[in-house]
Amino acid sequence: MPSALPLADPAPLDGLLPASATDDADSRRLGVYLHVPFCRVRCGYCDFNTYTAEELRGSKRSDYAGQAITEVGLAQRVLEHSGLPERAASTVFFGGGTPTMLPSSDLVAMLAAVRSTWGLAPDAEVTTEANPDSVDADYLRRLADGGFTRVSFGMQSAVPRVLATLERTHDPERVPLVVQWAREAGLGVSLDLIYGTPGESIDDWRVSLEHAIAQEPDHVSAYSLIVEDGTKLARQIRRGDVAQPDEDLQADLYELADSLLASAGYEWYEVSNWARGNEHRSRHNLAYWQGHDWWGIGPGAHSHMGGVRWWNVKHPAAYAERILSGLSPAAGRETLDDATRGVERVLLLTRIRDGLAIGELEPSGRTAVAGLIADGLVDGAAAVRGRILLTLHGRLLADAVVRRLLADG
Ligand SMILES: C[S@@+](CC[C@H](N)C(=O)[O-])C[C@H]1O[C@@H](n2cnc3c(N)ncnc32)[C@H](O)[C@@H]1O
Ligand code: SF4
Repeated sequence: MPSALPLADPAPLDGLLPASATDDADSRRLGVYLHVPFCRVRCGYCDFNTYTAEELRGSKRSDYAGQAITEVGLAQRVLEHSGLPERAASTVFFGGGTPTMLPSSDLVAMLAAVRSTWGLAPDAEVTTEANPDSVDADYLRRLADGGFTRVSFGMQSAVPRVLATLERTHDPERVPLVVQWAREAGLGVSLDLIYGTPGESIDDWRVSLEHAIAQEPDHVSAYSLIVEDGTKLARQIRRGDVAQPDEDLQADLYELADSLLASAGYEWYEVSNWARGNEHRSRHNLAYWQGHDWWGIGPGAHSHMGGVRWWNVKHPAAYAERILSGLSPAAGRETLDDATRGVERVLLLTRIRDGLAIGELEPSGRTAVAGLIADGLVDGAAAVRGRILLTLHGRLLADAVVRRLLADG
């Protein structure tokens, strides 16, 4: 594992980027992430940078789209002055929080600002996350008319008891409806699922998978429930009110997900993501894993340009203050050295189907491949073609595979 830490530098108030950010920029795609930091209530397991109405400290949801649009203009000036080439956005992703807490006209205006500032590539993928109880048919149609191509719904589970443990507020019976409305509007559909919720049985999970598959989404993400420090769920587990998720059970649940999804025609392309055909893979998320460039707009949003990473102030009130003063909202920044970038590539690309070329590994990593094949973690035939392809067993132990690929000698 790396010993070198990223070189931290203060983020300048004008946001200008160091010269290294421009290296090989023509070979990288530009993605834009717009963070929308609002939720009606906070789910007990979630530690995302999101705020309920009571937590906004005077900042207003209704002012937010205008502030994000101001940051898009600022970002464009920074890119120009830093010497980065002009690139149309190939993907745009609205994430949260719950972007669909804002009126559809706000999301469409934010997308229009991206389009008029950078341009959108002709086949641009434009996604928003949505909570199933935050949209209706008209809302989705207005998004599609405004240029959105895809919507990702937080379904999580189809079992009311599991949804209650997660403190989800949506009615599971709404999921088929919102999926149908999205399709009628011409939007691609992804469903997010969570497995390993305390008290969830293998049969509960099977029901959720079967319900998800029955909606025929183009894409499915299934994440194991992570107990994040500081969340209500973590406190419930510490007090013994809720059981700790069981790792062995989580492995069984992952295997069930992969088997049911594969039988229904969904192929894994990243450890936690499955798509029905390559054209339905999330190109935006692939760009993160493959090290392309992205500008993150909004409170707490992270950005990356050629090994320079920075992140914005977290609270919407602090963000509004910076934007209204004409200053960059960046709070901190780091420039990764070559060794750290190499380690990150291995970490991210190993988890993608056929993502990592063996030739990119250090000699010790290349030596480790034979042992990983012998242990059934890496596919032998793909290795002959020069690629690392995790087996099902390897996907369950992806972190351990990465450690062995990065170990010295
Ligand atoms: C921003 S939310 C998606 C949109 C919307 N806020 C919603 O939840 O329906 C992104 C996804 O991250 C998942 N997520 C958040 N915290 C998680 C955790 N601790 N473990 C696993 N998944 C988590 C959520 O369940 C959700 O599907
Ligand atoms: S999971 Fe989604 S709806 Fe729940 S608090 Fe997190 S961002 Fe909000």
